Amino acid sequence: MNTSFKNEVHEGLLLNQKALPSKYFYDKKGDALFVEIMNLPEYYLTRSELDIFRNKTEDLIQSLEVKPGSYFELIELGPGDGTKTKELLKVLNQKKYNFDYFPIDISGNALTLLKEDLSIKMPNLNVKPQQGDYFEMLACLKKSKQPKIVLFLGSSIGNLDDALATKFIYNLGANLRAGDKILLGVDLIKEQHIVLPAYNDTQGVTAKFNLNLLDRINNELGGNFDLNLFEHQPEYEEKEGVAKSFIVSTENQIVEIEATQSSYTFKAGERIHTEISRKYNDQLIEKIIANTDFSLQTKILDSKAYFADYVLKRT
Ligand code: AVI
Repeated sequence: MNTSFKNEVHEGLLLNQKALPSKYFYDKKGDALFVEIMNLPEYYLTRSELDIFRNKTEDLIQSLEVKPGSYFELIELGPGDGTKTKELLKVLNQKKYNFDYFPIDISGNALTLLKEDLSIKMPNLNVKPQQGDYFEMLACLKKSKQPKIVLFLGSSIGNLDDALATKFIYNLGANLRAGDKILLGVDLIKEQHIVLPAYNDTQGVTAKFNLNLLDRINNELGGNFDLNLFEHQPEYEEKEGVAKSFIVSTENQIVEIEATQSSYTFKAGERIHTEISRKYNDQLIEKIIANTDFSLQTKILDSKAYFADYVLKRT
């Protein structure tokens, strides 16, 4: 049994404002649902960043200050199937830039699939998958002393609150050297009528993704959540710039979890907070990196200015 999962579920359900960590969304079913989400008409984030990688590739390369003659390491944290990155790799490869690509992921399966696909599409590209924790793998890569560019795309940083985001960037800096860069993909603050549907799609895929957390507790921890008695409830306020997802209990009920040997009471309408998806602007990015060893170099926007890839340089 996954002890941290058990402990975090127990602690989260005892809070006054019940909460469950969003990192537990991603089991096999959650991964598949997230792939579905990325293809939803309402979920503009992936398409917007792909627009940057496809149509602003030269701007990206220029902002990263790489030169065809000098070697660098291109590292990616959590590449998924690499759809966006392949657009950049293709151009770097065609123009004979001198680099190796190091995708880092906890999932060996995702890395194998990516390497196989790249070996067909770009057979002369050096792909060096690193399976494991981001920071452990970066610590290993730091030994090479070569210039590094770290890609962290998809607004994944937005699933951390601002204090944790600062800590995350700070820790990246500890594993890099002066002059190294991060390409940080983030969703931008915009109107509610654009953001909220991305977390409340009409097909109900995001609802399934959110409620899968309860299914996971049932399957892995012996919970007895009745998924028919809970609903997905997203909210977004433009002023705050944070989309939040909740699971709401539709009636008074008691849920038992064998692994924690506890029962948890829910009132009708009571919510479990499951995720934040922070949206950004320049000021927020500046604030987040203020106590880190990075400075903001440039940003590249998609054609609708929905999404930005920020270039941060290690000082
Ligand atoms: C992975 N992350 C950036 C997604 C997001 O937009 O916050 C996860 C997600 N949650 C609901 N839909 C997508």
